[in-house]
Amino acid sequence: MSKKQPIKDRPRTENHVIVIFGITGDLARRKILPGLFHLSVAGLLPERYRIIGCARPNKAMSEEEFRSYAYDAACEFASDNPEGEEWATFAKNLAFAVDPDDGPNGLEASVARAEEELGAGVRRLYHLAIPPDAMRGVIKLLGLKGLNKNARIICEKPFGVDLASAKELNREIEEYFDESQVFRIDHFLGKESIDNILALRFANELFEPLWRRNHVRYVQIDVPETLSIEGRGVFYDQTGAFRDMVVTHLFQVLGILAMEQPTSLTARPLRDEVNKVFETLRPLDPREVVRGQFVGYQDENGVDPKSTTETFIAMRAWIDNSRWKGVPFFLRTGKCLAESHQMITIGLREPVMEIFPNEATVAEHTGNKLIIDFKDPGSIHAHFLAKQPGPEMTLGLAKMHFHYRDSFQEKNNLEAYERLLLEVMLGNQALFTRSDGIERLWEVAAPLLEHPSPIEPYDRGSWGPPSMETIIAPDHWTLSE
Ligand code: BG6
Repeated sequence: MSKKQPIKDRPRTENHVIVIFGITGDLARRKILPGLFHLSVAGLLPERYRIIGCARPNKAMSEEEFRSYAYDAACEFASDNPEGEEWATFAKNLAFAVDPDDGPNGLEASVARAEEELGAGVRRLYHLAIPPDAMRGVIKLLGLKGLNKNARIICEKPFGVDLASAKELNREIEEYFDESQVFRIDHFLGKESIDNILALRFANELFEPLWRRNHVRYVQIDVPETLSIEGRGVFYDQTGAFRDMVVTHLFQVLGILAMEQPTSLTARPLRDEVNKVFETLRPLDPREVVRGQFVGYQDENGVDPKSTTETFIAMRAWIDNSRWKGVPFFLRTGKCLAESHQMITIGLREPVMEIFPNEATVAEHTGNKLIIDFKDPGSIHAHFLAKQPGPEMTLGLAKMHFHYRDSFQEKNNLEAYERLLLEVMLGNQALFTRSDGIERLWEVAAPLLEHPSPIEPYDRGSWGPPSMETIIAPDHWTLSE
């Protein structure tokens, strides 16, 4: 494993007490703890900090047990080996709290102890890595105990399970926190290649003039996963692919892809433009949605044997504004599929005049495409037609490729969670979703949630149920072509 160098010349964040709710969950183990460790190695954590893992009494750990739990998580998932001085520095800043518990091991006492040890001027950060139904209770507890002062909270997705629950959650938050303290996280917004869409579009004159209905025929956002539900049966069966991936990650990617140029990259203008896209996103029509379930899903641990939860979803979405009217956005994601990718395809229209002999045939099969592979480290590919060498003017498919890995130094890479955790500590909300945007997305989702399309079986290792092809016809999914 390559050693990363500390990233220099970045502003240091204020001193922090960081509390992670749901510390025994998959997310804390896979992403949050390893991410915080990497930030520490990279020199990006505050000068003084405490990380308090928090769990219910039946999952309580001693501080020693918590350190060893964090060590195992770092061994398995961190990009740096947890060893030597680097690990010792991080480990000594770990503590554990039980909630609910009013004694010395409880949350209130643990936060007070950490603040006393760190000294004055400490900011509190609560990461709520817990399911939507548990969130309101924690927010209320923080408010009632006065732990909301000088604090920021990170709320994990999905934010609510529908419009009503998202509104209730927003109301509960508003009661105890100011919107400037709230960070609704969607880790796709922290991915290098998603942020690079902003650079691609607005720092270049090469692409942006084409980025509209006059030139674009369709857009695909395709995130198939070979991964199954990985021991998350109970959570997944209540959530499904739509809530887990579409109303969250895929819609956020769509927002960045489709937005107008913001006046700056700061939080208000950036989020205003993304929210305008959501405002014009047409409520989903269940007839334009295919829901699938992989064969064998109902036998998974924690899953209802008669479950109708979708593990696959493909859909057509429409943005009714002057830039995108009439351009279909095809979205697809699912578990246990043939390959894992995170890919955007912008399919361009054909030229008006055909002056080349085999132009129509070649264009029909390949056409002009811009493909953004946003699975880290990411790449961009342009497909276009070129003259084949030889005496005839015959066209063939040509490709241009950009790979992050070959083009920039990787050593400064931050994984999506690392980037976003850092932004929270710096108080920058630009890459976090806003309450009005989230509520609008649940409004768009409502017709599908109320009248879900029928569930269709598909085999593990396939690309999903066959009718996903009808959603996109006469075009094709770039990945399964
Ligand atoms: C999570 C979903 O938010 O994102 C998972 O809950 C999914 O089901 C994951 O596998 C994909 O994210 P990543 O980090 O692999 O891009």
